[in-house]
Amino acid sequence: MKCIEIRNKYLNFFKKNNHVVIPSAPVIPENDPSVLFTTAGMQPLVPYLLGQKHPSGTRLTDYQKCIRTNDIDEVGDNRHLTYFEMLGNWSLGDYFKEESIAMSYEFLTKELQIPNEKLSVTCFAGDNDCERDNVSFECWKKAGIPEERIYFFGKEDNWWIAGEEGPCGPDTEIFYDTGKPKCSPNCNPSCNCGKYVEIWNNVFMEFYKDKNGYTKLKQQNVDTGLGLERMAMLLQKKETPFEIEIFAPVMQKLEEYQVQDIIESRRIVAEHLRSSVMIINDGGRPSNVDRGYILRRLLRRMTRHMNKLEIDLNKLAEIIDVSIDALKELYPELEKNRETIKKVIIEEKDKFIKTLKNGEREFEKVANKTINGGKDTIETQAVFNLYETYGFPPEMTEELAQEKGIKVDMKDYQKLFEEHQAKSRIGSENKFKGGLASTGEIETKYHTATHLLNAALKKVLGDHVHQKGSNITAERMRFDFSHNAKMTDEEKQKVEDLVNEYIKQDIKVEKLEMKKEDALKLGAEAMFLDKYGDEVTVYKIGDISLEFCGGPHVEHTGELGTFKIKKEEASSSGVRRIKAILL
Ligand code: ALA
Repeated sequence: MKCIEIRNKYLNFFKKNNHVVIPSAPVIPENDPSVLFTTAGMQPLVPYLLGQKHPSGTRLTDYQKCIRTNDIDEVGDNRHLTYFEMLGNWSLGDYFKEESIAMSYEFLTKELQIPNEKLSVTCFAGDNDCERDNVSFECWKKAGIPEERIYFFGKEDNWWIAGEEGPCGPDTEIFYDTGKPKCSPNCNPSCNCGKYVEIWNNVFMEFYKDKNGYTKLKQQNVDTGLGLERMAMLLQKKETPFEIEIFAPVMQKLEEYQVQDIIESRRIVAEHLRSSVMIINDGGRPSNVDRGYILRRLLRRMTRHMNKLEIDLNKLAEIIDVSIDALKELYPELEKNRETIKKVIIEEKDKFIKTLKNGEREFEKVANKTINGGKDTIETQAVFNLYETYGFPPEMTEELAQEKGIKVDMKDYQKLFEEHQAKSRIGSENKFKGGLASTGEIETKYHTATHLLNAALKKVLGDHVHQKGSNITAERMRFDFSHNAKMTDEEKQKVEDLVNEYIKQDIKVEKLEMKKEDALKLGAEAMFLDKYGDEVTVYKIGDISLEFCGGPHVEHTGELGTFKIKKEEASSSGVRRIKAILL
């Protein structure tokens, strides 16, 4: 069964079960500067899991474009992907465990025709925070899964939360038995040997976790996620996702053009190309920070591996076309963006080729220093810098070193690399959990600027102006707000002048903690009211602005420099968008 058929079956099945199909959010979260990419279908739904009413009701289903970046360096093996599609269904305070499990079982065995014997499931074993999930156990038995294929595990396996803070709960996971032999007598679904492949995760979200621990949410939700590519791989009886229809044509093309036959490199090229295509399609562009940096890393790693395969880089345009052709049935919008996507990728490749040349020069220096210093091994830190600054793969440094009769200590490099990776992983997790707490200095300034802009817009256009979203990078800010008409040049000028006036006044930015109701009484602005608990943080900027916000902010508005509106345009119906910069 092809991906598109699985997706259609899924959405239709849940539609038949009274769910409303909602569109996929972009892989780049629209109104959430606190996360790099959309990592799960639940992410755009957080306010609704917390209790806000969703306009489409209490039963939703969708396919969600997701990017998970923690394992970029694992891509190349037979299973890791950075981009993937998650099929999901949600109950927002509607059905709970019983119906969720019954529907999952029916979908798998009736719609996808997976035999019962192929399925094993796991449930939460219980601890001090939450009881053992006997309800799910009973539901699975009722559905027809025999007891010996129902397992219980603790939080490490059967509890789901995105990051460190947020809605969460015990989950029940469904595994597909590939029929491979057990790796040991104790082999079970929590084992990574490849016998059991996780296909679906049903999370029973009834808790909220913050630094003080767990509290019950207002409602009991269900959040499920089924990985599309993995399911297609299993149903098509393939060993890896690279053999299914969305990757196979690219893999073939690469084989046609390659001089060296390296399967890991082909997978890396195909995978990173697809992820990059999807990120660019949703508006991402390569840069040196955050999302842009991830995209840059993906494209550079792709280019490096094309070099390893010794593929003529002039063939890249053709290879991108093959990738888009393989994906456009799932994502028809790619057709419209085809030329832009190609341009962005090829420009980045050209830039990288130049960087590589500089890297070669740097390598010469490092090598000479090693030799002149009478050493036979290049300092590991220098190998690492070549990778970090010039995108120079250590394998390449090693190869070039060999030609000069010197060495690279790959073990030591690996150690340093892992230390660095652990740090950056913590960084990206912090990004998820702390939201803006881990933002850089420039982003912090932009963040304060959104409050000033919000206030200025209200003054100039009227009190109907409310923030509808914002997106901040180190290069600019984007601010969406409710307003029905295009702003005139005069209005834009007035708003810009007013913000600059606030900056000039060098007003103190104060962080206040108070009860939600008191903040509301004071007239504080909030974008997602239900996202906040009873105790809230409010930022006050003189008598100009008062907003619910987690921060961080600058201490005085004077730190912002000069504010400049670059563009004002329609965002969606009744919503305008301003792009602005600080100079
Ligand atoms: N949110 C759950 C997951 O990502 C379904 O596995």
